[in-house]
Amino acid sequence: MSANTRPSGPPTQTYDSAFLRACRREPVPHTPVWFMRQAGRSLPEYLKVREGIPMLESCMRPELVTEITMQPVRRHRVDAAIFFSDIVVPLKAIGVDLDIKPGVGPVVAEPIRRRADLERLRALTPDDVAYVTEAIGMLTGELGATPLIGFAGAPFTLASYLVEGGPSRNHENTKALMYGDPELWADLLDRLADITAAFLKVQIEAGASAVQLFDSWVGALSPADYRRAVMPASAKVFDAVAGYGVPRIHFGVGTGELLGLMGEAGADVVGVDWRVPLDEAVRRVGPGKALQGNLDPAVLFAPREAVEEQADRVLRAAADLEGHVFNLGHGVLPTTDPDALTRLVEHVHTRTAR
Ligand code: CP3
Repeated sequence: MSANTRPSGPPTQTYDSAFLRACRREPVPHTPVWFMRQAGRSLPEYLKVREGIPMLESCMRPELVTEITMQPVRRHRVDAAIFFSDIVVPLKAIGVDLDIKPGVGPVVAEPIRRRADLERLRALTPDDVAYVTEAIGMLTGELGATPLIGFAGAPFTLASYLVEGGPSRNHENTKALMYGDPELWADLLDRLADITAAFLKVQIEAGASAVQLFDSWVGALSPADYRRAVMPASAKVFDAVAGYGVPRIHFGVGTGELLGLMGEAGADVVGVDWRVPLDEAVRRVGPGKALQGNLDPAVLFAPREAVEEQADRVLRAAADLEGHVFNLGHGVLPTTDPDALTRLVEHVHTRTAR
């Protein structure tokens, strides 16, 4: 699978969308909006179609994936769809024994802590995730001019789940390995970079118009440790998909001190959580990159006027950016009122109509 098996750039029918134009820092008819975790538990229609089907199994059914991916596009009129899957799907696909426990998150049966454990992380081939290719084929037909965002977990965040064996607040085992055995750590992240790159390539080849690399938990590191122990692996992922000419988005939580380095790793668009205003974030990231963000997802629990006031604050801070994709500073919280999301999309579109 090489970068030359499909023409460079996103599929032509999505090329001129507001979302892709903003990613390329071109003028837009309105600021594009989408939400991390827009498909999922905040939607009653999601809960209905998922009833009785375990999370990972639902990711392997192309028709269900297509329906769930489309739900927020139909309901909220967001400017982009995000492929319904999970960051641990490629690990499951290569045979890692793991599950997603409701209310907990990914749980790994045998954590990876020793050199011999690396053998369990074999290379990912497109055949391992044929259901992804099939689902994206169905989706691009239904989406038409609306771009589909493919995604993957970044090496550090995947390593955290694999080494801890599940979600972790302090990443004790992960950091013990990172500081205690730098060579094994580098080899682990390098293998994860290859798996992640292969998973993103499958999605782009199948028709994704952009990709987002989620390094959700990397904000736990200092800039010096990020540069030394994580950035080479994330940069390898971005380099591997650079030839496709589709925008590459990079996001993590609590990464205010890392924004410049995350851009440097190879992102075209840097995602920002709600802790750093976008006018400050753009100074940290530097020129030549678009920004995505950054309304606090908890703001959506406030009355409508307050939500709009906070959204306007985000838009004002973004006024001088070359490219801005409006999003939340992290995923939609499960108990969010879906109508608040629909109203927010409408508000941003109206406020920024040019
Ligand atoms: O709409 C979308 O954003 C697309 C779907 C998506 C899911 N997971 C579906 C999902 C995406 C982009 C992800 C990425 C993901 N998964 C990340 C990075 C994004 C982030 O939030 O930082 C991470 C860290 C994971 C790992 C993971 N998977 C967690 C923490 C959880 C939640 C556990 C829980 O139940 O609270 C999951 C499960 C998961 N992934 C759900 C969904 C809709 C919920 C499971 C369900 O509905 O039964």
